[in-house]
Amino acid sequence: MKKVFIAAILILAAFHAAASADGMSKTQIDKTKATDLEKDRQILRTGIMAELDAVSLYEQLAATATDPLIKKVLLDVAREEKTHIGEFQSLLLEMDEEQKEELEIGMREIEELREEE
Ligand SMILES: [Fe+2]
Repeated sequence: MKKVFIAAILILAAFHAAASADGMSKTQIDKTKATDLEKDRQILRTGIMAELDAVSLYEQLAATATDPLIKKVLLDVAREEKTHIGEFQSLLLEMDEEQKEELEIGMREIEELREEE
């Protein structure tokens, strides 16, 4: 049973990698007209989406895993995916000033809503 579960995880991990690559072909950007900067921003956004999906996938699998070692490995892999999100986000914030400003506005708005509570 454990071998089947591990095989399923490996298939899902391969699917994650394939989905990440395939996701690029599904982006709405017109590759013929986009600037190199916009193409790179879209690549980073697609990467962030794929990594977020991966975190959800591995955390859901961990929640259902019965073997403690498998659960531990899945949660460790999910944590690593969060690092990947940070890598892509860090680059995107360097390349998209509007995104950086809107992120900061969003954080301030949450602080203000918390203060109102
Ligand atoms: Fe990843």
